[in-house]
Formats: sequence, C-alpha cells, structure tokens
Amino acid sequence: LGLQRDVNFHLRAYLSCKAMSSGSFSDKPLPVSSSGGRISADEVSIEQREPFTQNSVVMERILRRRSLQIRNKQQEWLDSPEGQKMLEFRRSLPAYKERDALLNAISQNQVVVVSGETGCGKTTQLPQYILESEIEAARGASCSIICTQPRRISAMAVSERVAAERGEKLGESVGYKVRLEGMKGRDTRLLFCTTGILLRRLLVDRDLRGVTHVIVDEIHERGMNEDFLLIVLKDLLPRRPELRLILMSATLNAELFSSYFGGAPTLHIPGFTYPVRAHFLENILEVTGYRLTPYNQIDDYGQDKTWKMQKQAQSFKKRKSQLSSAVEDALETADFRGYSLRTRESLSCWNPDSVGFNLIEHVLCHIVRQERPGAILVFMTGWDDINSLKDQLQAHPLLGDPSKVLMLACHGSMPSSEQRLIFEKPEDGVRKIVLATNMAETSITINDVVFVVDCGKAKETSYDALNNTPCLLPSWISKAAARQRRGRAGRVQPGECYHLYPKCVYDTFADYQLPELLRTPLQSLCLQIKSLELGGITEFLSRALQPPELLSVQNAVEYLKIIGALDENENLTALGRNLSMLPVEPKLGKMLILGAIFNCLDPIMTIVAGLSVRDPFLMPFDKKDLAESAKAQFSGQEYSDHIALVRAYEGWKEAERERSGYEYCWKNFLSAQTLKAIDSLRKQFFYLLKDTGLVDQNLENCNKWSRDEHLIRAVICAGLFPGICSVVNKEKSIALKTMEDGQVLLYSNSVNAGIPKIPYPWLLFNEKVKVNSVFLRDSTGVSDSVLLLFGGSISRGGLDGHLKMLGGYLEFFMKPALADTFLSLKRELEELIQTK
Ligand code: CDP
Ligand code: MG
Repeated sequence: LGLQRDVNFHLRAYLSCKAMSSGSFSDKPLPVSSSGGRISADEVSIEQREPFTQNSVVMERILRRRSLQIRNKQQEWLDSPEGQKMLEFRRSLPAYKERDALLNAISQNQVVVVSGETGCGKTTQLPQYILESEIEAARGASCSIICTQPRRISAMAVSERVAAERGEKLGESVGYKVRLEGMKGRDTRLLFCTTGILLRRLLVDRDLRGVTHVIVDEIHERGMNEDFLLIVLKDLLPRRPELRLILMSATLNAELFSSYFGGAPTLHIPGFTYPVRAHFLENILEVTGYRLTPYNQIDDYGQDKTWKMQKQAQSFKKRKSQLSSAVEDALETADFRGYSLRTRESLSCWNPDSVGFNLIEHVLCHIVRQERPGAILVFMTGWDDINSLKDQLQAHPLLGDPSKVLMLACHGSMPSSEQRLIFEKPEDGVRKIVLATNMAETSITINDVVFVVDCGKAKETSYDALNNTPCLLPSWISKAAARQRRGRAGRVQPGECYHLYPKCVYDTFADYQLPELLRTPLQSLCLQIKSLELGGITEFLSRALQPPELLSVQNAVEYLKIIGALDENENLTALGRNLSMLPVEPKLGKMLILGAIFNCLDPIMTIVAGLSVRDPFLMPFDKKDLAESAKAQFSGQEYSDHIALVRAYEGWKEAERERSGYEYCWKNFLSAQTLKAIDSLRKQFFYLLKDTGLVDQNLENCNKWSRDEHLIRAVICAGLFPGICSVVNKEKSIALKTMEDGQVLLYSNSVNAGIPKIPYPWLLFNEKVKVNSVFLRDSTGVSDSVLLLFGGSISRGGLDGHLKMLGGYLEFFMKPALADTFLSLKRELEELIQTK
C-alpha cells in the first residue's frame, strides 16, 4: 500500500480523524470560551468594554475627565496653522454642509442610509462628525465607532487619512484592523476595519457590547460579507436599542436598503463634480487617429451590424504595412449579444473577449503626447493584466522620456509603501499613470485624475451552482460601474473618459452588478452562520436582501459535511468550530489544523499562505518555457505544485540568509514580493494556531515530520478533498476527469501539465475554473491509500459512513476494488488500536 512502511503513521491518522469526529482532540484540548466559540486573541482585539456595572459613578467621572483631555488635545491641533488648513479643506467638502442634518438624523433614528457621490466625504468625514459630536458632548472617551470597509487597502488608507486630518498618529483616536494586521491603541475610538473583522468580532461578542455606532460603508457594492452583516445587524438592533447603524452608499439605490430596514430615513449628500466628456470606441478611434466604420459600408465582407476597424493615421502607416500579412491571418469573428464584431486581432483595435493591450497603450500614448497635464487612471481587469501592461509600458518609446512618466499599480494586494504614492501628486511635468482594478471605482479617491481609461471589464467571480463550479472570468461591468469610473475623471477639473468599447455594447450592460451572495460559493459563509449560532442556514439566508439560490446553499452545506465541518444534522463539529476561527477558506483551515496535528507545520503553512495570497511563480509571456522548467525542477519527482511551492519558498529563505534572495528569484522566475507576503502570512498563521492551543510552543516539535513528503501529501489531500480528479495514463497523454465536469484540463503552468505520465491515480486540486473548458490550477498527485485515509472525514457516520461516501467516488471512477482494500485497512487499524 505504500503507506505500510510506517504503521505509526496510519495509527496517528486514524486516531486524529476519529478524535475530530468525536469532537475532542485527544492530546491537545482546545480552549473554549463561555459563549462556545474559541477565542483567538488577535481577532478579538477590537476594543471590548464591559458595560459599567459596579462603581459606575466613579467610572463615569474618569471617562468624563478623559473625554475632556481628548477635547483639549484636538483643540490644540485646530489652533495650529496646519490644523486650520486641514479644517478649511474639510469644510470645503460637500458632506460638511449636511453635517448637522446627518448628526440629527443619526441621533433620532437607529438606522440611517447615507448616499452621495464618491469623494463627497462620506468615508473620511461622517465617522469623524460622529466622533467630534461625541467629544463635544464630553462623551468622547465612552464612544466606540466601527466603520467597515469591503477591502483591506481602503481600511488602511482611510484610517491613515483620517488620523492625518485630526493631526494625530495612526493608533491614537483613529485606528484600523484588517485580517492579520492592525494599528490601534487604548484610546482608539474610531476604528476602520474590514467587514470580515467585524463579523469575526461578532463570533465572540454577539451583542457588540461597548460599540456605540456601526457604519457599514460601500454597501452599494453588495459584497457577500456586507449582505451577511446586514442580516446579522438587523437581528441585533432590537437587542441593542441604543446602538446606531449607518449605511453608506455611493450610488442611488438607497431605497433598497432603506426598505430592508423598515423604511429607515435616507440622506443624500449632493456632490459637485466637473463635467466629464465620455468617448466611446467609435469616437476614440477618431480622436486618436483610428477610424471605425460600419463594416457593411466598406467592402466585400458585408454583414449587418458588423464593424471594421481601419487604421488611418499617417504615423501608423508603417506599422500597418509590417503587420498586414499577419492581420489577414488573424481576422476574427466573435459573436457578442447579437452583434457580430469583426476585428483584426493583430491590430488589436477591439475584441469583445479581450480588450487588447495595444488599444490601451495607444490611448495612453495619445493622452501623454497630445493632451493637457493631469493624472491618468486606467481600469483593468486584474492583477495579472496590470503587471503585464506595466512591464510592457515601462520605457515605451511612444510615451517619451521615462523619467517623465510615473507608472503605478493599484490593486487589493499591493504593499502599503506603494499605496501612498498613488495619492501623492507627482512633480511638475511628470505624468502619473495609475493602473487599477475596479477597487479604484469607489473606495479610494485619487484627487488629481483628469483622464480615465475604462476597459469595460472586471474580473468577476461567478458560480455555476448546477455544476458546483466557480468561474472567474472578466465580464462586462454594469452601467452604474461605467458611470462611476467615468466620474473619477472630474474631481479637480473637467475630465475625459475613454471607454474602450462601442456605445452599442454599453447599451447592453446591466444597470447594476449582481450581488456577490448570488454569484459565489457559500461555504465560508455557511460556516460562519453556524458558528455565530444564527440558526438554520437556509432559513437565515432566506432573510438576505436578495437571497441566494437554494441549490447553492445545499451545495455549500453538503461540502461542509464532506469535509467534516458539519455533522449529519448540520451542527458544527469540533473541526468546524476551529475552522470558523481561522481567517482562511475552510479547506485551507483544515490543512493548517492537520499540519499542526501531524507536526509538519512549516510546509503546510507555506502551502496555505501561497494558496491564500497568490502564486509566487511568475510566467512571463516571452519566457514561458524557461519559467516552466524552473518550476518543474522544484517539483522534481513529486508531481505536486504544492510541494514545488514549499521548496521554492525554502530555497528563497536560504538565499535570503545569504543575501542573494533577489538573484534567486530572478533565476527561478519567482516573485520576491509574493514570497515576502507568504512569509509574513506564515508568521500570522503560527500565532493564530498557537492561540488555538493546537501547536506546541516548541517549534521543533511542530516540525518533527516536516521533511516527510509522504505525510505532507496526505495533509494536502485531507484539505483539498473533494477537489479530486482521476488520472488515466494513455499512450501519449493523460486523461483527467472529475465527477462533476467529466474531462478537465490542467493550467499550463502546473508541473503536472504536459508530461507523458503521472504515476499517481489521483490528483487533488485547489481550484477549478471554468473558462472555456474546466481548468484545474495547482495539483498534487496522491495514492489510493492516502485518498482512502484522508479524503473526507470519518465524522460522517464513522468509518462505515466514510467508506460509503468515498464509495460513491470510487464507483464513479470505476475503482470498486479499492473499497475492499479500505475495509482490510480498517480491520488492520482497529487491531492495532486494540493492541496499543
Ligand atoms: O467616501 P467618499 O467617497 O464620499 O469620500 P472620502 O473618501 O471621504 O473622501 C473625501 C475627500 O477627501 C476626497 O474628495 C479627497 O479630496 C480627500 N481625500 C484625500 O485627500 N486623501 C485620501 N486618502 C482620502 C480622501
Ligand atoms: Mg468612501
């Protein structure tokens, strides 16, 4: 069986699985809080204060004195010249005119909905108005305002800005808290945090004791966490009549939220933006020297409603003649919503499936060379695209002197040092170009933007409940989002917006984007519902603003049962309770827990960090072969992307010690930035796991088995199951099959892709994505016995139930004989347990 070389290994596996199912980890008991949830110190660090019970008079006097101190300190700042200047700026924002009306509404109503144009001062001002009015009323020391943001970067950027507006350092009266990071002090009264952090706090403090105001920002985005939080808060409000809830939204669908909260009053902050001229593709081509003509008006290909791109500008003539033969080959037809658009791909004018980089490049060159000064904000689909375009544009001949162009990227996972540059005004004569994802639509404001380039797409997760497959595809944005993007150009002066798609396509956009709750797998959410003891999952979710499909909910519950987080009756198991406390997806959490139990923590932490940050292996387009072979070397004979990641990371650590980390990354096509992020996430995981009591204080013990690749493979299997696909080695190729999708393919950058034979019958994968076919991302080969022991959980009706569940898989993959093997393995193990 391949595993029999180590009987102890079997035994440990069996005992741990059994222990997990019976709800107790035999050798490492978990600390459990009185409320039933386990407390992790890091996540609970949002200030929690008991209501005053004893000595309340004395306490109140102390708080009053502290409030006065806060007030005096603030007054000092306001008297200083910088303070005056800042105050003047703050008073110039549209929100200031509504200050009294806002505060009045908040004091009179438990729930208030506030809407206003982006940049009018909702996020930075409104929480401050509340804080200031509390300070004025000498309640400054006893208020606690929490303002949630959908993204880490906005929580961090906004808190920094607000602290600066108050003439303070971050962590005094204003702080922030995001996953695994934060800055807050004893006196922090206004805390910006991600929505996830507030949900985590609710785990251990269901009534949000001590919190006076909750502000949920950017609700128009309809993120899953925000929709979820609203259901929880709606339940909480009657229990906490003095708690105030403020919902803030950029666009004007405020009535939806108002009616959800029983007709809560809505306040609109009228904003001012300069006019922005919108150019759609037809017009852009003319403005910039291209021309677009209805295709059937020109020549022989005539079809109704087809367009042909024609390059006409003199300066492009030469390039055109070089390209023309390639162009003829690449004529492409794509059907799009009733329009058949013919594009000449090599000229990359426009293709509805991928907006060509050269078009963006072309528009950027036009602005840099021909237009007035002002920063350019480019909306792209994702991190990968941003990075490739950034590389491509560095030292682009048409952009002129490189020292006169400041190219910056803006996306959710960038380091904070880079974030700051985005907001800063560049030197005179330097053109700032910010390549951003859709996060620059509403949550951050870059003041000096005059030009916006909008590719019209955003990478959107969607979820195919029928096949239980998540899809991640760039898809068209909504009309609301397009308007929002355009609005970013009119902050300081009249602006220009280049929409890189024809007007007829814009007309087909949906008005608003579908809420995330309706387009993502719901596993983590269902786990949270259970751990917050919010009742039946289906019933709870039916109370959402727009409830998800029943099938999606059922799939999620079934998944949680398979991995052993819920039992047959949908109750949380011990494993489930632990998983809900870890800030990673359930499967990754399970891997961490098992990594701790099996004392192979180091490599497992690396894998989980890698899977939750992003892949550190770079695949430059022009050096793909070299990059792939560099990655393959790390995998060696392991047939595992995950083990390749562990080895690459360890090699980097080693190189860092010798101060040659940079060369190492260069040579092996690795991203040093990503490896650093993995490194810091690993540290955080370690502290979290230490809090749970699952890992030993002694690092060496945690890593007793870290070199045992066999064991690591087993833990990967336990985490990733049921992400399983069977491998059939054919003569020259390999056929891969999953139960839901049938034939699947591997992404070409997997070490298991494109090889003639995989000596394992199964591949476990982390993620599958439907693009055209279904593709598996990272994968690891495992043997039958590892799958039998680690796939799924014994909590489903003991060993027999486990076998039955696996039996479904084995039958599907036509491997019924494995069931017998499993039975004999089971007997062997039981005998072993008897004798030990
Ligand atoms: O939330 P909302 O979109 O309504 O606006 P905000 O984020 O509160 O920003 C209000 C104003 O503060 C913006 O118009 C910017 O001028 C300024 N601001 C800034 O200068 N630096 C930041 N990091 C954030 C905002
Ligand atoms: Mg805002």
